[in-house]
Amino acid sequence: MNPAPDSEQLVIAVSKGRIFKDAMPLLERVGVRPTDDPDVSRKLILDTTDPAIKLVIIRASDVPTYVEYGAADIGIAGKDVLLEYEGDGYYEPLDLQIARCRLMVAGPDHERLPPTRLRVATKYPAITRRYFAEKGVQIEVIKLYGSMELAPLVGLADRIVDLVDTGNTLRANGLKPLEHICDVSSRLIVNKAALKTKHARVTGLVRQLAAAVGASSPWGAS
Ligand code: ATP
Ligand code: PRP
Repeated sequence: MNPAPDSEQLVIAVSKGRIFKDAMPLLERVGVRPTDDPDVSRKLILDTTDPAIKLVIIRASDVPTYVEYGAADIGIAGKDVLLEYEGDGYYEPLDLQIARCRLMVAGPDHERLPPTRLRVATKYPAITRRYFAEKGVQIEVIKLYGSMELAPLVGLADRIVDLVDTGNTLRANGLKPLEHICDVSSRLIVNKAALKTKHARVTGLVRQLAAAVGASSPWGAS
């Protein structure tokens, strides 16, 4: 069993699946390679080839919580998750430009009469409420945890707010993109206290990652 991370170590929170797959080549470029594959191992704390860095494997939507509360020093999370998360207890120094997609309103390909008060199914109730409120459109939000594309097909909702990349999932379910809410990519986030207490280590890693994605160095030159 892995010991829990100690205070000398940097802890990076990342979700398995898509973000892990896209983030690993970047982390490997800065010398951080996990010793286990989270899609195979049941471990939630992974050692890496850098003895001072551990990864914690959590749900994508939990990453800002771990980082805000300091359970992780650094996290990798989609901008969709960050916009939905109602807190600001972290810094967001770097766009990693991975897991790119768009957050969109979508609806049926063919619709006889547009309803007067839209029911919108989504995993993103806060973003959805903000978006329609800014347009001055009254809606009812139906919170779902996945498979949003099903909701209009079974009469649960008139619209969905979901991520779109290729558009294949929408097309396969007789839906079409209607409105673009924002572009999405994964961001590096940093706990505010860790930036002070582990300043050199945190800024060093962030700068290396910035160089790996070809971005200018956040927080100035080293
Ligand atoms: P949770 O377990 O918290 O529900 P999830 O199942 O949404 O998370 P993933 O499907 O791995 O987790 O998505 C993680 C992130 O990857 C999303 O927050 C988004 O930023 C990005 N993402 C999701 N779907 C796509 C897609 N089709 N193309 C590109 N990026 C995507
Ligand atoms: C995401 C998203 C859409 C799909 C869009 O789902 O929720 O359903 O990708 O991608 P596309 O436009 O390329 O079809 P994901 O594959 O992550 O499945 P999940 O929501 O069940 O995790």
